Amino acid sequence: MSDIHKLVAQYFQLVDPQHLALPDGAVLVQPSVQTALYERMFNESTLSPLPPANYRERVLKLILSRMENSLKDPEEDEIQDDLMNSWSSLVAQPKASALEQAQKLSHIKYIAPTSAGELNDPERSVITSESRGLILSAGTTGFRTWEAALHQASFLASAVGEALVHGKRVLELGAGTGLVSLFCARYLGVQSVVATDRELALIDNMRACVSLNQSGASLPIYPAVWEWGTPLDTTGDLAELVSDAGLQFDVALGADLVYDADLVPLLLKTVRDLFENYGVEHFIISATLRNEDTFRTFLTGCETNSFAVDMLPFESAPTEDQTGFFHTTSIPIRTYCISRSMSGAH
Ligand SMILES: C[S@@+](CC[C@H](N)C(=O)[O-])C[C@H]1O[C@@H](n2cnc3c(N)ncnc32)[C@H](O)[C@@H]1O
Repeated sequence: MSDIHKLVAQYFQLVDPQHLALPDGAVLVQPSVQTALYERMFNESTLSPLPPANYRERVLKLILSRMENSLKDPEEDEIQDDLMNSWSSLVAQPKASALEQAQKLSHIKYIAPTSAGELNDPERSVITSESRGLILSAGTTGFRTWEAALHQASFLASAVGEALVHGKRVLELGAGTGLVSLFCARYLGVQSVVATDRELALIDNMRACVSLNQSGASLPIYPAVWEWGTPLDTTGDLAELVSDAGLQFDVALGADLVYDADLVPLLLKTVRDLFENYGVEHFIISATLRNEDTFRTFLTGCETNSFAVDMLPFESAPTEDQTGFFHTTSIPIRTYCISRSMSGAH
């Protein structure tokens, strides 16, 4: 993968500047690379959405200082005007404080990993709206995309993952920013995806993002409020999905839903409800194993309910080898397929 392509993908995902894969200064000063950096990262008249100004300023500062350190012959090597002009205007712009910035929603563009490092694949990207700096915002953990969602989206971006949802009626639980559902709707050929969360603010936020991800035909995504343990409201937007058999799905998805042991009984009850009343055959759940005992409680509960539990053999690439949907792997992330009954195991 070209260094610039990876840097651009990380930049639009607002990867912490200190973790960006910055090429050497000798590469950065090449005139063609400088032009590419400007056109693909800083040109305000053609790029949208751009990262927030203070993030752009931090990244450009790193790039310029790396370039300056490798300028050998001031007569021949120079930093191009476009980049210097971007720098001047970024420095001059009034900035939000770090706290204000953390609380604000920013548009983030997530670029999917390229298959086997192929650069010729058409770029697949999803735009979300998030407040990245906060764990809790507006009382929910859902205003940022978590590692488990990026892991699950990376799995779904693979041929094996896509096959699980292609042509299917999909339901996502606790969808948060909606990254996984938006990716399914835009690129994975799902029949429909109902992206649910209990927080109305998250559902409104997802609805606002749908149009940012649409180019032409409307996407088959239906954001809907759903609090586990309550009936799923089949009026409103979901009415058009209801058949004679009621509202039916094939596959359910969930990422980072088991962060608290207290949530486990309700989540298990919800999975049973999906299997028994909504036609769901498989629940694909990705979990960051912050506390293995908590996730073990969930898996044990699945067995007690006679669900079939399969750990899928998908691992996130190490951070330095990732080509998109960048996420840390310092804490292991696992994906499981939970199926309706032992006899439904595959
Ligand atoms: C840690 S976030 C994960 C969000 C997203 N799946 C991701 O990985 O980026 C957990 C999400 O589950 C939702 N959630 C938690 N308990 C819920 C419940 N009882 N009913 C519906 N959603 C719930 C929260 O609102 C939040 O958006």
